[in-house]
Amino acid sequence: MTNYRILRYDTLESTNKKAKECAHILKDKDVILAKEQTDGKGRMGRTWISQRGADLIMSLVLKPKIPAEIVSQITLIVAMAVCDGLEKVGKNAYDREARPLIKWPNDVLISSKKVCGILTESLFMGERVGYVVVGVGVNVGSEEFHFSIEKKAGSIKTQWGLDIKIEKLLDEILKAFDKHYERFVECQGVKYLIDSYNSRLVSFNKEVFVKDRKGICRGINEKGELMVEFDDEIETICAGEVMTEAK
Ligand code: BTN
Repeated sequence: MTNYRILRYDTLESTNKKAKECAHILKDKDVILAKEQTDGKGRMGRTWISQRGADLIMSLVLKPKIPAEIVSQITLIVAMAVCDGLEKVGKNAYDREARPLIKWPNDVLISSKKVCGILTESLFMGERVGYVVVGVGVNVGSEEFHFSIEKKAGSIKTQWGLDIKIEKLLDEILKAFDKHYERFVECQGVKYLIDSYNSRLVSFNKEVFVKDRKGICRGINEKGELMVEFDDEIETICAGEVMTEAK
């Protein structure tokens, strides 16, 4: 078991909302866990739907002593921790084809289906980082998805056919996160994991489209930015820029 303090709730509007409201009284590495969300938030104003009691819904509160400009890289180490945690609980139950992969920067996929989304929200006080709230939603036992996402979404159950206990997965993710967090703060960034991250990158060395331009994904750099090669020139892509895999 990890020594993270886990604050458990039955129903919340959103664990990220609760974490932000309570951030002033929470400590570094406190976790807000809920069985159900009534207004789960996704990125870009989207809604995040989980099934009550079947999926992992949590927000991690962080108060790291790091420069504000590297905060966005925390999403990358959380995605890695989710993949590591998934591999632990699914050990030997899947083949290489079904290895958890990352769609930079926020999504974890298993066999091309999104099983996890990450929403990172931060408060800055000048140069200082007030708090970072990392919301993680993992589809664990859900087998049916809202029609708006049914083509893209999957769960551990649908992708691996496994019945995994939410608490076990949470524990493995937090254990993996703890190792990454320590190294991240020590190295002041993601330089320590570039190769392992790129090996999990779904589009690494593949053709991708960025705003209708075709390029080749060359992985992340030391700042955690995604590099894409267009006509022999490397450009870095900002999170939020539309990027799809070329057919
Ligand atoms: C995305 O893929 O758009 C990000 C989804 C993040 C969902 C999680 S569930 C726990 C936490 N609370 C929220 O309201 N959202 C995040």
